[in-house]
Amino acid sequence: MLATLHDLLPRARKNGYAVGAFNISNLESAQAVLDAAVELRAPVILQTSQQAIAYAGLFELVALVTSLASRVRIPVVLHFDHGRDISLLRAAAKAGYTSLMFDGSRLPFRENVQKTRMLAKFAHGLGVSIEGELGVIAGQEDGIRAREHLLTDPDEAQRFAELTRVDALAISVGLAHGRQVLREHLNVARVRDIGRAVSLPLVLHGASEGVADAVLKKSIAAGIAKINIDTSLRISCNTAARRFLKKHPKSYNPRELFGACRDAMRITTGRYLRLFGSAYQA
Ligand code: 13P
Repeated sequence: MLATLHDLLPRARKNGYAVGAFNISNLESAQAVLDAAVELRAPVILQTSQQAIAYAGLFELVALVTSLASRVRIPVVLHFDHGRDISLLRAAAKAGYTSLMFDGSRLPFRENVQKTRMLAKFAHGLGVSIEGELGVIAGQEDGIRAREHLLTDPDEAQRFAELTRVDALAISVGLAHGRQVLREHLNVARVRDIGRAVSLPLVLHGASEGVADAVLKKSIAAGIAKINIDTSLRISCNTAARRFLKKHPKSYNPRELFGACRDAMRITTGRYLRLFGSAYQA
């Protein structure tokens, strides 16, 4: 069944686990994530970036996820990840997304507050939840690159949460999007400081590569209630595809190839659901 961030995240933060938010862009990735979540009875978030929408189509993604979610008993959020185009965010909420993220992190604080608050009002009017972002997360994501981290300031985070009325807050705490060399450092002390200042569920971006499991667990205990995973699914899928084609160079059945990718993404998703503590919470 479809759900919102508001349905899932306050409970996750209160009980010390995080809900996995996985980037999908086609049938196989959506099925892989959902199959893993059903198998482990975990609440789950399927999210799409603007680039994924450009690839697959807004209405097609809504139809796909709505149809898959209607047949399972676990709560499933259809979330718009890193939305920067306000008219596309509005269209997505009207089309059936149950959750939006407005990424105004590169705007000056006042403008980020003003635009996020305006979208929060709009979203809440439709029963849709909203995530805001404060602080810049480094790395490359769907063609958009930020060179430097700009760590979230706890006092600003508190003001941002109060002024915007978002349901969840993405914070920058030293991680980076994409396949980075292992230079990133998850600043757990900063997560803790923000967690003390803000009672909202906090969101961690860029956690796919190079973060030790124990460090992720500490950040969940400090207030992280949603963790985004994109790069790990991409790597699992493409590694499986390369392996399959090497092993079966004569295969001409795309279902075998895509099926191998789907299996790999399902296994990766399951590993994260266990790690985040959300397994058996639905
Ligand atoms: P990764 O690139 O580390 O998977 O992060 C994804 C993300 O944060 C999407 O918003």
